[in-house]
Amino acid sequence: MEQWDKIAEYLIAWYPKHARDLPWRKDREPYHVWLSEIMLQQTRVEAVKGYYQRFLDALPEIGDLAAVEEDRLLKLWEGLGYYNRAKNLKKAAIVIMQEREGKFPDTYEEIRELPGIGEYTAGAIGSICFELPTPAVDGNVIRVYTRVMEDSSNIDKSATRKMIREQLAVIYPKGNCGRFTQSLMELGATICLPNGVPKCNECPLTTICLAGKHGTWQKYPVREEKKRRRQEEKTVFLLQCKDKIAVRKRTERGLLSGMWEFPNVEGILVEQQAADMAGKWQTAPEQLKMSCQYTHIFSHVEWRMTAYYLTCQCMCGQFQWVTLEELKREVALPSAFRPFADVLWNEKNT
Ligand code: ADE
Ligand code: SF4
Repeated sequence: MEQWDKIAEYLIAWYPKHARDLPWRKDREPYHVWLSEIMLQQTRVEAVKGYYQRFLDALPEIGDLAAVEEDRLLKLWEGLGYYNRAKNLKKAAIVIMQEREGKFPDTYEEIRELPGIGEYTAGAIGSICFELPTPAVDGNVIRVYTRVMEDSSNIDKSATRKMIREQLAVIYPKGNCGRFTQSLMELGATICLPNGVPKCNECPLTTICLAGKHGTWQKYPVREEKKRRRQEEKTVFLLQCKDKIAVRKRTERGLLSGMWEFPNVEGILVEQQAADMAGKWQTAPEQLKMSCQYTHIFSHVEWRMTAYYLTCQCMCGQFQWVTLEELKREVALPSAFRPFADVLWNEKNT
């Protein structure tokens, strides 16, 4: 399309007047941009804001991140999900400290080699921090591109993302690479909306966008059919002995590895079976105070959980026993288990 190259001109003119004022846009420090892009990969902007500031207050320099203990790191990430993102941040920080004297790499290839940094993140850091013509193709950018071009390629294929990267790379405006990357994301986040009607009448691309012109935006982007999530049933034990609650650390591998959890078993047990299980763990269960249910949805799996709140007489050695205050302050508990911690809090305070 002959007007395709105008997209950069229009967007970088539009961006300064319309960009949201976000904490990670205050400077172009690679550590800051890197951290924000990793946090934003699976999490909404509003949710990230608080985490971002707290993380940097706790770990202001890359050296602090490289040296942080894993439990503290996971506590800082608690509730954001996809905890491998945090572990990879630390791994990359160690590489930067040990192999690069603490200096963030400034070429696309070297950035891309760091643990946890894929094409998207390397493109974002390269363009925003180092003015490289390296596109960062995320969901927002894909949506804008496929609508402007009325492109019905299947966006779940990596060849499609590669094609979009290549189409964008050739129109990156020298000296405005960072601004172009951010303006594409911003348009996708605030104008060319993912859910609901895009604001075509406020869009700087309205004169060149084919989907806008033809009213066909609803057809783009084209996706593969979604796979159904696997469903798993679990029984969760809220075991209380005196003022302490049983928790245990998850294994070092797999989903939520290294995080903490309430003891739990596969499948749904009835009350008597749950009490028997708690007995087998040598906790000497006393009384069932209540039971409740909660379903937590991950990207590929759904946990349908039934929880039993049991008082017991023994703090058996296979669990750690912590007060509710310690649970809140020090223990990295994934969102999947948080509602049960809230139940315990509410019980305590009523
Ligand atoms: N989503 C991904 N990266 C972003 C950024 N830098 N600003 C706002 N939203 C984003
Ligand atoms: Fe999206 Fe409409 Fe702008 Fe096209 S004109 S990019 S469909 S908001």
